[in-house]
Amino acid sequence: MAPQQANHEAGSAPLVTADTRALDEQYVLPTYGRLPLEVMGGEGGELIGADGRRYLDFVTGLSVSNFGHCHPHVVEAVREQVGRLIHCSNLFYTRGQAELARRLSALSNGGKVFFGNSGAEANEAAIKIARKRVRDLGGGGIVTLERSFHGRTMATLSATGQREKQAAFAPTLEVFHHVTAGDLNGLHEVFQAGRVAAFLAEPVLGESGVRLVPPDFLHEAQRLCLENEALFIVDEVQTGLGRCGAAFAYQRYDLEPDIITVAKSLAGGFPMGAAIVGPRAWDVLGPGEHGSTFGGGPTVVAAALAVMDLLEEDGLFERVESRGRQLEELLFRLVEHGAVHEVRRLGLMAAVDLITPVARETVAQAMEAGILLNATSPDTLRFLPPLTVTAEEIQRVGDFLLEELTGVAEIPKER
Ligand SMILES: Cc1ncc(COP(=O)(O)O)c(C=O)c1O
Repeated sequence: MAPQQANHEAGSAPLVTADTRALDEQYVLPTYGRLPLEVMGGEGGELIGADGRRYLDFVTGLSVSNFGHCHPHVVEAVREQVGRLIHCSNLFYTRGQAELARRLSALSNGGKVFFGNSGAEANEAAIKIARKRVRDLGGGGIVTLERSFHGRTMATLSATGQREKQAAFAPTLEVFHHVTAGDLNGLHEVFQAGRVAAFLAEPVLGESGVRLVPPDFLHEAQRLCLENEALFIVDEVQTGLGRCGAAFAYQRYDLEPDIITVAKSLAGGFPMGAAIVGPRAWDVLGPGEHGSTFGGGPTVVAAALAVMDLLEEDGLFERVESRGRQLEELLFRLVEHGAVHEVRRLGLMAAVDLITPVARETVAQAMEAGILLNATSPDTLRFLPPLTVTAEEIQRVGDFLLEELTGVAEIPKER
């Protein structure tokens, strides 16, 4: 039976129960524009709704559940850990935290690791390191990109290159200079204008609709950082840990960052962020200068160590790339049929810009069809399937999009 048919019988119950909607409206601060689906569970690449229906998840918590929901290896590791020790202050040593730091270091720049609880905290750590490092030189600004997203705390919001997100909270921190990705003149100008403490960028601008930053621009930023005693920092919160067909997206461009920030999928769905800090900056912070009560605690560490095992699976990155290519080919069919004018992709991180601004309507229609998609704007659909996605699942989403956006059920055979 086709998955859509198998789901259909259960699909008559409400997608959000009245009690949950009422409680949420009365007691939860309304900071999220929610989709009309109440989630009861998750298994592998699917979420299970209040209607009992299974939804193919191409959102993955925005690149959190990269190995699917409730991966048995992560579940088992956490189950075992919570029976021994749930929390332990960073006043004490724990072997798991040290081991996780070793494995993250080996995957990346050989650096030392600071652990927090989110992407924003990973970036806060990087920003504080960059600031303190130049303190004795009279300070220095931090260069970030227009259309970037680095988090919602005051410092990471200030780093974020989106005025509309900052406006209500002005004044933001004045240390950030925003440059357009790819604008080499703008980049040179900002380095010439005054002291730069660091350059901070996502290799792919995820929240802005999967916009790939030109590699030559990133290489030039790295060169300027070395020349000017600044730190070269990559935000791999969304792109990291296999998503882009390598442990980190920067590795696909042969870059050598001083700091890598990571979060989202790091602990398989448990909250964890980390800044991996290379030798040019690893002696900047001393005891008491930064910290986190829960950062690198035993339970999340156990989950993250299980994720490290999953990342080491043979052929994972090659499979991510080949599934990504399959997805890209299907998305290009939408260009051929006049529904899409641009396809962007790195590994299994992809987006399309639609000719007509129906992204949100398409997300709603996809949900009807048992598929969860994400719109980053009225024009743009983003695809973040689990790294474990099958060829059949990608085909199902490709077929849905073709039919929904073009009315064409099948690509002509002579293609
Ligand atoms: C690139 C990037 N950096 C930072 C963040 C912030 O992460 P968090 O929501 O865990 O604070 C996000 C979240 O979407 C992100 O995509």
